[in-house]
Amino acid sequence: AARPLVDRYGRVHTDLRVSLTDRCNLRCTYCMPAEGLDWLPRAEVLSDDEVVRLVRIAVRRLGITAVRLTGGEPLLRRGLPALVGRIAALGAELSLTTNGIGLARTAEALRAAGLHRVNVSLDTLRPERYAALTRRDRLADVLAGLAAAHAAGLAPVKVNAVPVRGVNDDELAELLGFAVRHGYRMRFIESMPLDAQGAWDRERMVTADEILARLGERFDLHPVGRSGNAPAEEWRIAGTDAVVGVIASVTRPFCGGCDRVRLTADGQLRNCLFATEESDLRALLRDGADDDRVEAAWRATIARKGPGHAIGGADFVRPARPMSAIGG
Ligand code: GTP
Ligand code: 5AD
Ligand code: SF4
Repeated sequence: AARPLVDRYGRVHTDLRVSLTDRCNLRCTYCMPAEGLDWLPRAEVLSDDEVVRLVRIAVRRLGITAVRLTGGEPLLRRGLPALVGRIAALGAELSLTTNGIGLARTAEALRAAGLHRVNVSLDTLRPERYAALTRRDRLADVLAGLAAAHAAGLAPVKVNAVPVRGVNDDELAELLGFAVRHGYRMRFIESMPLDAQGAWDRERMVTADEILARLGERFDLHPVGRSGNAPAEEWRIAGTDAVVGVIASVTRPFCGGCDRVRLTADGQLRNCLFATEESDLRALLRDGADDDRVEAAWRATIARKGPGHAIGGADFVRPARPMSAIGG
C-alpha cells in the first residue's frame, strides 16, 4: 500500500503534474520569444514507458491520487491517446492542461482513453488580439477545441486566462460571460515571473483584486472559497450556479497548502514550481535503478521542499527553466 509523500511542513503531496514536452505551437508574448526556445533533444525526453513507470510508482507507492498532463503543449506529444490510456489505467484522476489547438481532433479519443477533464488556455476572444498575443492566428481552433471537449464530456471544461495590463485586461467580463454561456468554468490567473525572457513586471501583472473589481462591474459575485488545496479561489455568480476562479499566486500565495510535485519532460523531479533544484529521475531509470531507489529519491526530493515562493521578496530567485519547460 502507498505511504503518503509528506514534507517537513506536514504537507501531503497527492497531486502530480507531468510535462510531456517542452515544445509549443504558440508563442504567447508573456511566455516565450517569437523564435521559440532551444527545445529538449528527443533523447532527453522520457519515453512513454518511462513516464508510465514513474506515474505507477507515484500512484502505487507514494499516494498520488491526481495526475495532470502539461507541456509546453501536451497535445504535441506523439501517440498521446495511447499514453493517456496507460496512465488512466493506473487509477488516479487524470486531467490535461492545453492551449486547445488540435483538441477538436483529439477530445473524443482522449476521453475514450480515460482522460477525465481539460483546462484550456484562452486569453482573449478577439481574433486579431489572439493572433498578436500568441503570435499565431488560431483562435477558431481553440474555440472548436473547447466545444469538442465539452461535447466529449471532459467535464468540467475550465478556461484559463492570464490578464496582461493594456493587452486583454479590458475583456475579462466578456471572457466570463462567454464561459458561462457555454458551460465552461472560467479562471483568471495572476502572471508569475516564469517567462523565458525574464520580462515579467509586477506593474503589468493584473492583481486578483483588480480582476475581481473588473468582473464586479458586470457580475454580482459571492465568495465560495477554495476546494481543498486548489490554487483557485472561487466566486459564485449570484442567481446562477456558475463559478469563476482566481489564481492569485503572487498577491495571495497558497504555498502553505501545496500538495504538488512536478515531473519535467526530461525526467527531472521538482518539488516546487519555483524550485531551484531538480532531482534527476531519468538518470536513475536509465541507470537501471529499481522501484525502491526511485521511490527513495522521490521522498528525498520532497523532504528538501522549501516553505514556498518569495515572488516580490528580496531573496526571490527565478528558476533556471521557464514555465513552458516546467509545465506550469
Ligand atoms: P485544477 O485541478 O483544475 O484546479 O488545475 P490547476 O488550476 O491546478 O492547473 P492548471 O494547469 O490549469 O494551472 C492554472 C494556473 O495555476 C497556471 O498558471 C499554473 O501555473 C498555476 N499553478 C498550478 N499549480 C501551481 C502551484 O503549485 N503554484 C503556483 N504558484 N501556481 C500554480
Ligand atoms: N504566469 C502565470 N500563468 C502562466 N501561464 C503561462 N505563463 C504564465 C505565467 N508566467 C498559464 C497559461 C496556462 C497555464 C497553464 O499557465 O496561460 O493557462
Ligand atoms: Fe505555449 Fe502555454 Fe507558453 Fe502559450 S503560455 S506559449 S500556450 S506554453
